[in-house]
Amino acid sequence: MKNIGTLYGRPIGQFWEDLELWEYVLNSFPEDHFQWIVEFGTFQGGMSFFLYGQAWARRMKFYTIDKNPPEKFVPCFNQLDLRNGLPKHWTFLKDEPGVLFCDNGNKPAEVYNYYSLIHPSCLIGVHDWGTEFNPRDIPSELRPYRSSATTIFLGRSDFLNELESEVDIPEHWERPYRDESSPI
Ligand SMILES: C[S@@+](CC[C@H](N)C(=O)[O-])C[C@H]1O[C@@H](n2cnc3c(N)ncnc32)[C@H](O)[C@@H]1O
Repeated sequence: MKNIGTLYGRPIGQFWEDLELWEYVLNSFPEDHFQWIVEFGTFQGGMSFFLYGQAWARRMKFYTIDKNPPEKFVPCFNQLDLRNGLPKHWTFLKDEPGVLFCDNGNKPAEVYNYYSLIHPSCLIGVHDWGTEFNPRDIPSELRPYRSSATTIFLGRSDFLNELESEVDIPEHWERPYRDESSPI
């Protein structure tokens, strides 16, 4: 696995295999299915520029969120603390299918708190698969679709339906994460 380091001159916390997986996953659904990409965790925006390009080329909306602003300009950046929820006027999250990318503070909590707030035909990408986000953190309503060594894409079982998962999950994965203290 090769850590990218910087992309477009901005630090990025991904491996090349992760970008390859994004391209593969986005291509594997009909062109007009996903209407938006939202990134949780901008950092310095290396991945944001990649996702912005993906969204622009595919005519999707794009937003990236962080509680701390990046040092340099990042397109579509919103300074928000995810523990306070998302702007109420972002109704597209519920109204249209899209891809949510969880790559900030507490990934099990992000997935658990947000998957039911978005359209049922969404995908949820989670970074740090196998380290910060593990099989036991997958809510029981979701199932894996595709993964690289460090990113996994999940979707609702009824949305993925007959699409086959190519993710190897150990036997004991069905213990769902619960964050009762979350305000969301
Ligand atoms: C691993 S970095 C994101 C890396 C970026 N996606 C990339 O690939 O280059 C995680 C980011 O999550 C942000 N973060 C942590 N907790 C947060 C919260 N509660 N709300 C919003 N952002 C948060 C941090 O400020 C940090 O910049």
